[in-house]
Amino acid sequence: MRGIILSGGNATRLRPCTKVTSKQLLPVYNRPMIYYPLNTLIKVGIKEILIIISPERAGDYLNLLGSGKDFGVKFTYEIQDKPRGLADAFIIGENFIDQDNVTMILGDNIFEDDLSQDIKSFKSGGKVFAKKVSDPERFGVVKFDASMKAVEIKEKPKQWLSDYAITGLYIFDSRVVKAAKSLKPSERGELEITDLQNWYLKKGELEVAMINGEWIDAGTFNSLLAAQILAKEKLQDKLII
Ligand code: TTP
Repeated sequence: MRGIILSGGNATRLRPCTKVTSKQLLPVYNRPMIYYPLNTLIKVGIKEILIIISPERAGDYLNLLGSGKDFGVKFTYEIQDKPRGLADAFIIGENFIDQDNVTMILGDNIFEDDLSQDIKSFKSGGKVFAKKVSDPERFGVVKFDASMKAVEIKEKPKQWLSDYAITGLYIFDSRVVKAAKSLKPSERGELEITDLQNWYLKKGELEVAMINGEWIDAGTFNSLLAAQILAKEKLQDKLII
């Protein structure tokens, strides 16, 4: 299993704080934001981690994180020259992924749960994690049938579909590279991660599990504040880096 942290993007919703730095380098209580998703991957025992960053901030990431040696892992860096969407990570990561399975986590997503067992036991297909939220329109949303089987996944639905958001950690087998390359940009001009999930869902190969603990997408000022509080009150004794 290989790991990818997607840490580019524009972070327009956190302007002006992100005018001269990257969102994922902003402090979340006592660590830079990216340390939290890094913790999630390193705890699993993943040793090879690709960090995808924007060209303007590349030097900052290298200075902060280096080779990975200090954390007992190996970092590879790739530049995403434009924010083409979350699914672009698997095109950028083609050589890095090669024939392996891959867990991709968003650099601004903070998980309380330890997902090690789910990631370690993954064999093939795709696996994502859902969480009931009060603001599903901000996220990719999954609809379940009466037996809690996933039947539909939609990116930021304008009309209510369900209260279950898909969180920012995705496990796929290496076919995800081929699937990502076959995608067309959506109306907002991005390669959508929901289209990849639907690629696996249509084949009956997507598992959707539930997240029990807290999960925060720290991309807005309010969610960033909530992340600070979660980090201080609940995460400190769970962090290994
Ligand atoms: P978003 O929060 O959807 O986008 P953003 O970070 O650019 O923020 P905003 O909407 O406020 O402008 O992105 C989720 C995560 O994925 C975040 O860690 C940034 C990253 N990302 C990329 O690295 N490349 C991309 O092309 C996109 C769309 C996001």
